[in-house]
Amino acid sequence: MTKLQDVLDEIAGEAAGASDRGVVAHYIPELAKVDPNQFGIAVALPDGEVLTAGDAATPFSIQSVSKVFTLSLALGKLGDSLWARVGREPSGNAFNSIVQLEQEKGRPRNPFINAGAIAVADLILSGHQPREAIGEIVRFIRYLADDDTIRIDERVARSETEHGDRNASLAHFMRAFGSIEHPVDHVLGVYFHQCAIAMTCHQLARAGLYLASQGQNPLTGAQVVPAQRARRINAIMLMCGHYDGSGEFAYRVGLPGKSGVGGGILAIAPGIASIAVWSPGLDLVGNSKLGTAALEQLTRQMGWSVFGA
Ligand code: DON
Repeated sequence: MTKLQDVLDEIAGEAAGASDRGVVAHYIPELAKVDPNQFGIAVALPDGEVLTAGDAATPFSIQSVSKVFTLSLALGKLGDSLWARVGREPSGNAFNSIVQLEQEKGRPRNPFINAGAIAVADLILSGHQPREAIGEIVRFIRYLADDDTIRIDERVARSETEHGDRNASLAHFMRAFGSIEHPVDHVLGVYFHQCAIAMTCHQLARAGLYLASQGQNPLTGAQVVPAQRARRINAIMLMCGHYDGSGEFAYRVGLPGKSGVGGGILAIAPGIASIAVWSPGLDLVGNSKLGTAALEQLTRQMGWSVFGA
């Protein structure tokens, strides 16, 4: 795997010298404080080896990358009945858009736009207090990464709660349609805390391995989700994981991926690797600018795109 390490070192070296790094998210004030001059990448392989370059050991706010894990968790609880509440089509709209929700009577297009993830948080909350549901999500991610040190950044959770009017609007709107059952502040409490989970690229790449390994976590041998479900989650990541930038990401990178406004991206090369990349500066639709460029270079040089060379 020396070629892979060489490619990662080259990518990190280029990222360190990049001048146009995008812009950090400002609508969550705590994220606006993050130094944009950071870049990390980690590749976890099914044999348990993890190769890294750059700031791969620095924790960052995973934000919407968490939606892959809450979808996996909720599907485990509810099975396919989840799809009665949330669609699985690309939205073609911004991650926090409200327009489609009215046209489609409060049923979010997919589980990765904010409205869809809020609906999934409502499902995870069933039968629990918000604190218990948050604990369940954190425990699930620790189990996936096989790492008990993973924590929530409470400052980020508070910052988002204080500036969460847009998400509160989406939640109230859905509740008016009967698409969420619990009180809005409970659902948002779960949603904001899942987004505020902090992880390193190393941890995130390990946590995603089950999606590269037919639903099985090769670190522990545990079957996290059935193989068919892993395949389907990958399909939704490919079509919806980058919001209105999903087509561009598929075109450039050619892997299932999920981005977050903290600048992280989890990408899956099925059967080959789970890849986490992080650089806080975002492009115009809210996806990591250098992270996308890094994945484009990695898939090209390694021949990892699901669409071939
Ligand atoms: O709800 C929000 O706006 C954020 N907590 C998450 C949005 C996000 O990460 C979109 N991803 N690019």
